[in-house]
Amino acid sequence: MSLLVVGGTGTLGRQIVLQALIKGYSVRCLVRNLRKAQFLKEWGAELVYGDLSLPETIPPCLCGITAVIDASTSRPDETTTMKQVDWDGKLALIEASRVADIKHFIFCSVLNLEQFLDIPLMQMKKGIEVKLKESHIPFTIFRLTGFYQGLIGQYAIPILENQPIWITTENTRVSYMDTQDIARFCLRALQLPDTQSKTFFLGGPKAWLSSEIITLCEQLAGQTAKIQRIPLPLLQVSKYLLNFFEWGQNINDRLAFVEILNVENNFSKLTFDLYKTFKISKEKVTKLDNYFQDYFIKMLKRLKDINFEDVQRQKNLIL
Ligand SMILES: NC(=O)c1ccc[n+]([C@@H]2O[C@H](COP(=O)([O-])OP(=O)(O)OC[C@H]3O[C@@H](n4cnc5c(N)ncnc54)[C@H](OP(=O)(O)O)[C@@H]3O)[C@@H](O)[C@H]2O)c1
Repeated sequence: MSLLVVGGTGTLGRQIVLQALIKGYSVRCLVRNLRKAQFLKEWGAELVYGDLSLPETIPPCLCGITAVIDASTSRPDETTTMKQVDWDGKLALIEASRVADIKHFIFCSVLNLEQFLDIPLMQMKKGIEVKLKESHIPFTIFRLTGFYQGLIGQYAIPILENQPIWITTENTRVSYMDTQDIARFCLRALQLPDTQSKTFFLGGPKAWLSSEIITLCEQLAGQTAKIQRIPLPLLQVSKYLLNFFEWGQNINDRLAFVEILNVENNFSKLTFDLYKTFKISKEKVTKLDNYFQDYFIKMLKRLKDINFEDVQRQKNLIL
């Protein structure tokens, strides 16, 4: 099977590419910056230039491809608008896939989107889900929870750098996941015909409160967190005010994401069934404790090495 990965340079996309190559798939990546994507080529993927905001670049990327995994999304700090990538670009990708007779299209969507249809990105994700279903291309949709990788910037780094951690006053449980495990589900879907024409709500092995994540990071870092609580209504007002300004749209969308991830997703029964369907053992899925443990061991060692090098450099200067 030849696979086209869109978003291969991203946090999730790169895990999909790596695992697909390990499994022996022939992997092509649609990328808009060949230099930035060089590491994917070094892993063994074929790179082809394409940009979702330039729809005419998409069809040639699909030549000879049997399945597409779309793990792309607009970058918040860019000039291309979200609509160009997450709506127009994805419509063009679906249409080109239909014309190319793609046998399986996997789309990465977002959990809880139906509760946030006032947020433009959620509207677009929902709309693309509908268009994909209408296209008659065999599809699998994954509605994804938050990634462990995102928690590093949110909790681990601020604790290590003694910076404040911003959390909302809401205390909800979220079952985050490691992107390596999400990638396993995406690739497993290619092998299991039962997973076609279905939408799956993908959640991790345990649901976490932000206070529990902070305590875990504090223990592993040996440092106390500086916590700043922001009431959820204040977040919603900020979002509303920022909506009036064009420059505020990206910040607004980021704030919206905090809100989305604050909706409880603690679905133990659903998760159990899901793991059974995909024949993935829950025990083999990375636990947040282990993920953070690995991260802090590496980071604390690196910080120790840097301190040691600094002391050596200063000694040399004195001598
Ligand atoms: N992050 C989360 O916690 C989370 C939660 C739920 C769902 N999701 C969904 O999961 C998927 C993967 O998310 P992620 O966090 O891994 O994304 P990410 O790290 O932000 O990566 C985005 C990817 O999309 C590519 N891209 C952006 N604009 C493009 C364009 N115009 N043409 C072609 N490619 C373009 C980027 O390429 P460049 O490297 O060239 O910029 C990058 O490879 C997305 O669909 C996202 O909505 C994410």
